[in-house]
Amino acid sequence: MSRIKIFDTTLRDGEQSPGCSMNLKEKIEVAKCLERLKVDVIEAGFAISSPGDFESVSTIASTVKDCTIASLARATAKDIDCAWDAVKHAADPRIHLFIATSPLHMEYKLRMSPDQVLQRTEEMVKRAKGYVSNIEFSAEDATRSDVDFLCRVVDIAIRCGATVINLPDTVGYTTPDEMRQLIATVMERVPGSDKAEFSVHCHNDLGMAVANSLGGVMGGARQIECTINGLGERAGNTSLEEVVMAMRTRPDIFGEETTRIDTTQIARASRTVYSIIGQTAPLNKPIVGRNAFLHESGIHQHGVLANKKTYEILTPEAVGIRTANLVLGKHSGRHAFADHLQSMGYELTDEELTRVFEEFKALCDKKKDVSDRDIEALVTHSTTVAEQEVGGYHLDWFAVQTTNFTTATSTVSLKKGEERFEAVSLGDGPIDAAFQAIDNIVKPIPHTFDVFRIDSTSEGKDTLGDVRIKLQAEGRTFSGHGLSTDIFEASIVAYIQALNRLGAWVEKQNSGE
Ligand code: KIV
Ligand code: ZN
Repeated sequence: MSRIKIFDTTLRDGEQSPGCSMNLKEKIEVAKCLERLKVDVIEAGFAISSPGDFESVSTIASTVKDCTIASLARATAKDIDCAWDAVKHAADPRIHLFIATSPLHMEYKLRMSPDQVLQRTEEMVKRAKGYVSNIEFSAEDATRSDVDFLCRVVDIAIRCGATVINLPDTVGYTTPDEMRQLIATVMERVPGSDKAEFSVHCHNDLGMAVANSLGGVMGGARQIECTINGLGERAGNTSLEEVVMAMRTRPDIFGEETTRIDTTQIARASRTVYSIIGQTAPLNKPIVGRNAFLHESGIHQHGVLANKKTYEILTPEAVGIRTANLVLGKHSGRHAFADHLQSMGYELTDEELTRVFEEFKALCDKKKDVSDRDIEALVTHSTTVAEQEVGGYHLDWFAVQTTNFTTATSTVSLKKGEERFEAVSLGDGPIDAAFQAIDNIVKPIPHTFDVFRIDSTSEGKDTLGDVRIKLQAEGRTFSGHGLSTDIFEASIVAYIQALNRLGAWVEKQNSGE
């Protein structure tokens, strides 16, 4: 089988789903993960949907060098012009335009006749072609479209210069064999189909997105659209890690080296995306869930001890999960620490290394065993702290007093530059009291909590508390991250960071920048 391209839409279809929105910095972090994974195409966003989306598509286009960068566009002149503006600085830019082709969508959503859809396809693919040669055309709701009509639309798109034809299962309705047949039929019936690459884009409403994508590949598709952790509209999209590992595990069906993905980057990419959206993988999530490689039952353990292959069809190492324990500790030097970070895939500047090393040493004083997960959390946290907006508030000290028979109280002291501010508050528990004390100092604009999660980075009582907060205000999200063996401290630090970002944004709005 020839090579299958991986088109990642975590930053578009994934990011547009509720609870998954990301800010610019987070999107760039995800784009870097995708580049390390070696995906072929990054759909960086839907440029016309908001100024923020435009900015992130164009920043990613000029940052990422080793992937095609696509922006989504409806089949309208304004969308296409804007998409081009956003991707034009990419090393390999692509415009991805779409129009619905199913009777339901044409009648009720577009209010267009089939002939109008054909005409619009012709005009808009030509318009996009005027900008760039790399054009993807998607027939939205293809799996519920009339096949004869779908072939006519695809025929026109290819004649006008589309180089990739995507047939999405927009509502997650199809089955693997139906998808195989659809791709094979359209490729067979459209005379110029050899001039384009066919692509599948499946949603997971019935839990079949990965299987349907593989069905499409069996029918002749050579591009799979997917997302990290299967994020996406409603029940999500095809999960990148699952579809890639399925092909890699079955070379007898899909061939050797089917994709160019560096699978050892999968675990890190998955954790990065989960941590940005403030979630963790469900325990039994294939490939990246905590239980995915555990063998608990006696029969399984016995088999695995005798020969791993009895119950293990892929290894944790293949997806970048390190099973060997860390040998670093209190007495490890900076050199050994740097080597270890490098073996984990991190490349830090001298300044970053100094900061993380100091935090590592401090942690060794509090915690007996420092795991790779702890180190990964230290690196992530240290970079977010370093990027913290200059001029924001910082925690000076805090005190909480709580019992199960009195109202909790908290006193917080914050510093901003050389100034110090103190406030005290009662609350519905110590964290509520501390957050109210902080509010009394910072006086933020009204906001809600989208995410407030406290996770542990490893097992044991002395684990690090890894706190993620996402605040919503004025339709935007402001995230904060705190990490400490003390969960009150981690929560307070995360909240202050999110408020600093909110405050910086409000200031920018007010200054009219
Ligand atoms: O699900 C879908 O049909 C899409 C298209 C815009 C490609 O996301
Ligand atoms: Zn979609």
